[in-house]
Amino acid sequence: MKMPAETLPLKNGKTCVLRSAEPEDAERMIAYMKIMLGETPFLLRAPEEFDFSKESEAEVLRKRRDDPRALMILAEADGEIIAVSDVTPRGSLSRVRHRAALGMSVRKDFWHLGIGSAMMEKLTAHARRAGFEQIELEAVSVNRRAISLYIKYGFRVYGTRPHGLKYPDGRYADEYLMVKTLNPA
Ligand SMILES: CC(C)(COP(=O)(O)OP(=O)(O)OC[C@H]1O[C@@H](n2cnc3c(N)ncnc32)[C@H](O)[C@@H]1OP(=O)(O)O)[C@@H](O)C(=O)NCCC(=O)NCCS
Repeated sequence: MKMPAETLPLKNGKTCVLRSAEPEDAERMIAYMKIMLGETPFLLRAPEEFDFSKESEAEVLRKRRDDPRALMILAEADGEIIAVSDVTPRGSLSRVRHRAALGMSVRKDFWHLGIGSAMMEKLTAHARRAGFEQIELEAVSVNRRAISLYIKYGFRVYGTRPHGLKYPDGRYADEYLMVKTLNPA
């Protein structure tokens, strides 16, 4: 689904642009993912595991854009992607059509400027309009920043997956399973 570009004022007095991702963003998206994945231990993929070609990344972005129930939002500043988030259907089967999944990331230099909150507001409004009844996500249990953001927007923890992530040094991280119930639009 497409979302028109809009300017977002940031807490540091600067601005960025929020808009839906397009297949033409593939190359810059790959560059973003490789940097961002190196800045946080809280996502499933290690930076070297993001090995999509420009063509396959463009195909993912095309599918998101052309799916009326999905929305992938990116934030840009000075021609660079600085944040990415999406809402996607959990599946197409009739018994799970009411459930959406949400993911988000922001480049470290741009944390705590309000970008995550702005993307969350766009994504939850879209999910409601698209007819989803709940949004689900997983968050590493010590990811305080993300969990505060999700709780601020009405998500609650409904369970814990022990040892959801395992790092190369043998340490584990538990994951919180979180859900937000949506009221109809
Ligand atoms: C989690 C993340 C998306 C938040 O994005 P952000 O743009 O920094 O979020 P915002 O600036 O809108 O802040 C949202 C809320 O987070 C919380 N928050 C921000 N900084 C915080 C900090 N240092 N400690 C605890 N909570 C914090 C606050 O509740 C804040 O709301 P407030 O500004 O109204 O007080 C971003 O930090 C990120 O990409 N982290 C790495 C990847 C990741 O963890 N993704 C989530 C995987 S589940």
